[in-house]
Amino acid sequence: MDSVTQLLEAARAAIAECGDARELDALRVQYLGKKGEITALLKTLGGMDPDERRSFGQAVNEAKAEVAERVNARRAEIEAGQMAERLAAERVDVTLPGRGEERGGLHPVTRAMQRIIEIFAHLGFEVATGPEVEDDYYNFESLNFPAHHPARAMHDTFYFGDGRLLRTHTSPVQIREMQKQGAPIRIIAPGKVYRSDYDQTHSPMFHQVEGLLVGEQVTMSDLKGVLQTFVNAFFETSLEMRFRPSYFPFTEPSAEVDIAWHKDDGSDPGWLEILGCGMVHPNVLQACGVDSEQHIGYAFGMGVERLAMLRYGVTDLRQFFDNDLQFLRQFR
Ligand code: PHE
Repeated sequence: MDSVTQLLEAARAAIAECGDARELDALRVQYLGKKGEITALLKTLGGMDPDERRSFGQAVNEAKAEVAERVNARRAEIEAGQMAERLAAERVDVTLPGRGEERGGLHPVTRAMQRIIEIFAHLGFEVATGPEVEDDYYNFESLNFPAHHPARAMHDTFYFGDGRLLRTHTSPVQIREMQKQGAPIRIIAPGKVYRSDYDQTHSPMFHQVEGLLVGEQVTMSDLKGVLQTFVNAFFETSLEMRFRPSYFPFTEPSAEVDIAWHKDDGSDPGWLEILGCGMVHPNVLQACGVDSEQHIGYAFGMGVERLAMLRYGVTDLRQFFDNDLQFLRQFR
């Protein structure tokens, strides 16, 4: 009997002291396992006389039950302690201020495009769009470039070989919209255009914004006034601007527009070309079913990258397409 009492006391102390789930399991095996100390006591019952066996057996069984219960209770305590520790360690203070997200920014070409659209929206122009994959009719023919016209050669066109091509300018949107809306009409058409060309000032894909206004009494000075208003708004300063005679098959007369550009180095301003324009050619109106006796209009087309370069002081067009984050971050 003494051995049972001693064993039980030792077990109580060991279990109470134990602070680790794995050690606790070792204790359980030590006392209650197949080869455990309490199990060993039970095995001695066989050699006892019946009275002794009954009382000893009862004591051992009670000890066994108590040890099992203490092990379980201690395990629950250890687990609760671990959980409390983990909760304390992983505690999140939801009242702390956030770490701050770095905000992205719009690409400078997108920003220039949005500026252009906004300025013309104030002048009453509505945005129209058209497909980037075009055919010969919309990109050239309807714009008064007959087959073999030498001006086609200036466009470095990407052809698909099945009659389709990548539009080389946004002017096809003039045709598509006039066919839809007729006249009068007042639209701008921003979008991507493609030419087989790549150097410091040319990329195979770039952006244009086309403008078209057709009515009954439209003059070239209206065109000049609108463009001067645009240029001043875009560059946020009053800029000298000039029309230089030029040629496009779809406008007559045609002009290229130059602005007087001051370089930062204090040298004399030079003229910089920023867009093409003119009075819509009667053949273009007729191709859209618009009566060219009754209607007259103007059109213009500008390169967005070109304007963005001037506005943001970028010297190499290719920087717009390199996706160098150091470059792009400057425009946030
Ligand atoms: N489509 C011409 C170009 O890409 C620009 C332009 C548009 C000129 C409208 C006149 C009128 O070069």
